[in-house]
Amino acid sequence: MKKNLVPMTLLGALLAAGMSSALAAPDWSKVPTTNVHVFHPGVTPLEWIQGKGEHSGATGLKKGETCAGCHVENGKLSLDVKRLQSKELEPKSAPKVGTYPVGVQAAYDASNLYIRLTFKAPSGSGDKSDKENEVKATIMFPNDKVEMGEQIGCWATCHEDVRTMPGANDKKTKYVKAGAMDLMQWRSSGKSSDGSVTDKRNMEGGKAGATAEGSKSGDAYTVTFTRKLAGNAVLAAGKTVTFGVAIHADHAGGRFHHVSFNQTIGLGADGDIKAVKQ
Ligand code: HEC
Repeated sequence: MKKNLVPMTLLGALLAAGMSSALAAPDWSKVPTTNVHVFHPGVTPLEWIQGKGEHSGATGLKKGETCAGCHVENGKLSLDVKRLQSKELEPKSAPKVGTYPVGVQAAYDASNLYIRLTFKAPSGSGDKSDKENEVKATIMFPNDKVEMGEQIGCWATCHEDVRTMPGANDKKTKYVKAGAMDLMQWRSSGKSSDGSVTDKRNMEGGKAGATAEGSKSGDAYTVTFTRKLAGNAVLAAGKTVTFGVAIHADHAGGRFHHVSFNQTIGLGADGDIKAVKQ
């Protein structure tokens, strides 16, 4: 009898520890949802964006305006999505659905940021190269060394010479010219990634200890990410941080995703999305 007492006490302590970490997870019913509209970006890498002849936003960008500053108005996209589905900007095959909303919720505590995405992943993808995953959801955060990171979000990693771009090298992954992005990804096959983007994309070895969980109900997905405030991008209470979302729907691979412009999360500060303190 006595022999069992110690292990039982230990077990109790372990259970209590498990319980308290489960209780620390956000109560999402108390966190408001903001819709972020993702869209198929076609072939519009940073080089296209900065090319004056092609993108009239290039001059404003040079002056410091952000992508979202010109292209998001009151939470809605101001963007010619049909043009992005046309042969001009999508030479291969565009997805049938050009844009759709992703519900974003955020919460934080002393050590973590939690982000929950809810969305209906559309069918009719232009590319079904990811046989293993029907859907992938990815979030990236630039650190302060990434050139124009806060201004352009994920476009800092998007270049004309990376895999799946027309005529590009299919071994070359997305990259930033300086600094690092934290990358976290949920895949419907069940694996998630805590990675980064430096001079290449790294699907593991991230600094933010990111984890992701997801589920599907009917055609609606719910994906919850947890990351440390520490990472390449250092988050903290009172700070506003830039992030971008990408969803690969209907087995899409590479650039055939739907993405957001640069968006912000305020941790007890202003932001497109206001993270609720837990
Ligand atoms: C100063 C305002 C401004 C900024 C900043 C800006 N854009 Fe634009 N963008 C425009 C305008 C105006 C057009 C439409 C005409 C054109 O293509 O020049 C456009 C067109 C586009 C298009 C093609 C679809 C369309 O509506 O014609 C994409 C994609 C795009 N911009 C993405 C971006 C991204 C990504 C960024 C940030 C890296 C960005 N823009 C920054 C003003 C801007």
